[in-house]
Amino acid sequence: MINGTNVKLGKVRSAIRELFEYGRKRKAEIGEENVFDFSLGNPSVPAPEEVKTELLRLISETDPVFLHGYTSAQGDYSVRKTLADDINARFGTRLTADCLYMTCGAAASLCITLNALVCSGDEVITFAPFFPEYSVFASRAGAKLVAVKSDPLSFQPDLAALRSELCDKTKAVIINSPNNPSGVVYSEKTITALAEILREHEEKTGNEIYLISDEPYRELVFDDSISVPYIMNYYDRAIVCYSYSKSLSLPGERIGYIAVSNKMEELSEVYAGICGAGRALGYVCAPNLFQQLVKAVTGKTADISVYKRNRDILCAALTSYGYTVIKPDGAFYLFVKALEEDAEKFAEKAKEYELLLVPSDSFGVKGYVRISYCVDTAMIERSLPAFRKLAESYKA
Ligand SMILES: Cc1ncc(COP(=O)(O)O)c(C=O)c1O
Repeated sequence: MINGTNVKLGKVRSAIRELFEYGRKRKAEIGEENVFDFSLGNPSVPAPEEVKTELLRLISETDPVFLHGYTSAQGDYSVRKTLADDINARFGTRLTADCLYMTCGAAASLCITLNALVCSGDEVITFAPFFPEYSVFASRAGAKLVAVKSDPLSFQPDLAALRSELCDKTKAVIINSPNNPSGVVYSEKTITALAEILREHEEKTGNEIYLISDEPYRELVFDDSISVPYIMNYYDRAIVCYSYSKSLSLPGERIGYIAVSNKMEELSEVYAGICGAGRALGYVCAPNLFQQLVKAVTGKTADISVYKRNRDILCAALTSYGYTVIKPDGAFYLFVKALEEDAEKFAEKAKEYELLLVPSDSFGVKGYVRISYCVDTAMIERSLPAFRKLAESYKA
């Protein structure tokens, strides 16, 4: 007999994957251009030109034994140093190379971090709506994921609700901003108040709590006046799980890092835990070609103006058809209120108009659908009559 939990995980597809597979079949039946697939968060803009230039340079000019060889388990020192220096220059932190651990993207960063911190029976808190894989990552690490609600209008975390969920078992709080699926950026006011609540709880109970910031969308913010607070400047027990999947449009290359704040007194212990969890999970020595690449293109981001244009087209059109949308400040998702109470039924109805929308249930809230607008602008324009007809079908 083998591990049944994993067998189940391997057999049951996520709601998003299920919809994507449905879309694949439907496109084969009625033609690609007739299906409006808003299911996946796969970047639709290419990686910046510098990625290609630097990859070619690395391949032609670097010793192949080094380039394709093992690095240190935690990643190449010069890569970690360059990235730490860049974080320090941008956010005023004082990280060293030994605060960083290179990973295969945010999923690996989160798995390693949770496995490093969690003792069996601990709880990890996050805010709904949240990325569904958090439940899988937390439970594999031995923790129960506790979802705390967000404010129903602003979709900022409900901090009163957080206060009532904190307990002796709480080991960590995961935040994700800009958020998948709401696109909301957690404000400085929210982060300041959240940090204060965690500190108060620590002081009262002596229970150490880590704040984990899952940041694949940090660079995807559409308005210069909106900044994404860097959690290490608000809370000392802070860990950032970063990924280049979306910022450089490189999701298939699997590259990211974990950054542990140097302000926590137990830094060396936590960093050792990260190295140990990476080792136990087999997440050592992230692909060196892409370690060297992210070092070479530090500071570059994919062209996010396309996402902004897509967002603006969808928000304006859907609002004019009578939908209620949460206007996103970042990422590439739009959260739309379903036109009936049951979001799953609404998403089924949307399929009749060839619209593939992800019901919000798997994100831990009811009554919404997620639209991934990292798609061709032309497809969005073609889809608008379908959105209008869907809205009209509820008025009839
Ligand atoms: C909120 C969030 N966290 C983590 C991930 C995983 O990202 P990666 O491709 O870097 O593993 C995703 C991917 O969509 C995500 O949306």
